[in-house]
Amino acid sequence: MRRRRRARPVLIGVLAAAGVFAGLATGLSLPSGGPHPIQLTLAVAASLLSGWLTAVQIGGGSDERPAAPDRPVASSPLSQLPPDLGDFADREAYLATLLERLESRSDDRIAIATVAGKAGVGKTALAIRVAHQVARRFPGGQLYVNLRGVEEQAVTPEDALAGFLRDLGVPGPVIPEDLQERARMYRARLAGRRVLVVLDNAADEVQIRPLVPSSPGSAVLVTSRRPLAGLEGAQPLVLDVMDHQAAHTLFSSVVGAQRVAADPEAASRIVDLCGGLPLAVRIAGARLATKPHWTLSGFVRRLSDEGERLAELRAGDLEVRASFALSYHDLEPRQHLAFQALGLSNAPDFAPWTLAALLDCTAREAADLLEGLADAQLVEAGATTSLGIASTTCSASSRGNGCARKCRRPIRPRRCAGSSRRTSHAPRRAPPSCATTSGRPRSTSHWAGSTPSGPASSPPSSRRRPRASTRRPGGWPRP
Ligand SMILES: Nc1ncnc2c1ncn2[C@@H]1O[C@H](COP(=O)(O)OP(=O)(O)O)[C@@H](O)[C@H]1O
Ligand SMILES: [Mg+2]
Repeated sequence: MRRRRRARPVLIGVLAAAGVFAGLATGLSLPSGGPHPIQLTLAVAASLLSGWLTAVQIGGGSDERPAAPDRPVASSPLSQLPPDLGDFADREAYLATLLERLESRSDDRIAIATVAGKAGVGKTALAIRVAHQVARRFPGGQLYVNLRGVEEQAVTPEDALAGFLRDLGVPGPVIPEDLQERARMYRARLAGRRVLVVLDNAADEVQIRPLVPSSPGSAVLVTSRRPLAGLEGAQPLVLDVMDHQAAHTLFSSVVGAQRVAADPEAASRIVDLCGGLPLAVRIAGARLATKPHWTLSGFVRRLSDEGERLAELRAGDLEVRASFALSYHDLEPRQHLAFQALGLSNAPDFAPWTLAALLDCTAREAADLLEGLADAQLVEAGATTSLGIASTTCSASSRGNGCARKCRRPIRPRRCAGSSRRTSHAPRRAPPSCATTSGRPRSTSHWAGSTPSGPASSPPSSRRRPRASTRRPGGWPRP
């Protein structure tokens, strides 16, 4: 900084000289319009001078080198947290657990808390709220990055580190190329500071590890769809949908208490049809709020059509279907196939052997596939829950995007299992709608563990080809 100030008079002098040169060059134009040799020389000199000046000013010249990597750069603590939600609805138990995990960290270790759960369940909202509540306990700063883990272009750990380093005052040209070196520099910059690092929408452990600081007393708060079982020292929390009361409170705050009071039954029904999923509840409320002429009971009728429900749950840049589609796109090819096969089975509950029969694979393979789908939050494990979110995501997509027309070739799950050759005709990374040849809605609901129940209790013959659903899906969410 001091060096730059000292250089200023010199720079002004040189700029003036460049101006004189340029003026002379202009004044020496020949009547014929052709450039005079002196004019050319002066113009070249002026351009050289201004090039040199630019280099000096951006620090690329020998006079002003960028800061050396190990030179401490003064920076005030970062406060990067996005704003807390003004209408945050009750998540008391989860809040208490996370607060306890982040606040009870000892001074000689790093606390890592993770929040997992399906799309739109409120992981980010919860993490941001908690982060604001504990912020003052981290005077070294609160860092935040959206890692975009489920999007097509997730942020690489290299890029996330480069962003943090720049924010911490490291000039771009000094940031090393190598991931490990970046992580080393990042930890060195944070040394001695108690910081909170919020890693939002993370993809996996590999993306997170380099971003964990090493200064004792710091904490990391991670949100992700998948449970991050491999993250060393992490305390996991799985966030579930809201209970009716909390979802109702959220709906009421978005749509307005007066309209809810005018038709409480319809309001309650809307909240139920949204299955307590905060994203769905917010969208439903937002749609009604922007349509004052709509009645709540009219909107109930719209939402009651399971095939159209996801199309209705869309407002501005918020969309339930798009959120779930991201999870689907993230699947492995065999998981795609399993998900599609379950859609064809049209069963609200199913056991691993149901899938084994559909795919002609072993029960163990089927169980692993189901675990993968459950980790991606596309099916639910357990015998009692009834949210068939995946099914509605699928069925509504199949109507909306025309993919059923493009995917005329029927999938044959039991022929597709086993070899890559056999799976080659399964649509890779295709939208969920491709599983049906009829274009009708399908159902993929929750995985009833190993206890056969409902339609899944009679195993389909492994030779029988599953029919595309001709019934309405079991539905999401079932109130
Ligand atoms: N506790 C809450 N109170 C109010 N709105 C919430 C709450 N949780 C989530 N939301 C709303 O639901 C939507 C999805 O929340 P978000 O935190 O982005 O979900 P996720 O990170 O799990 O995908 C957002 O519009 C958010 O405002
Ligand atoms: Mg999120």
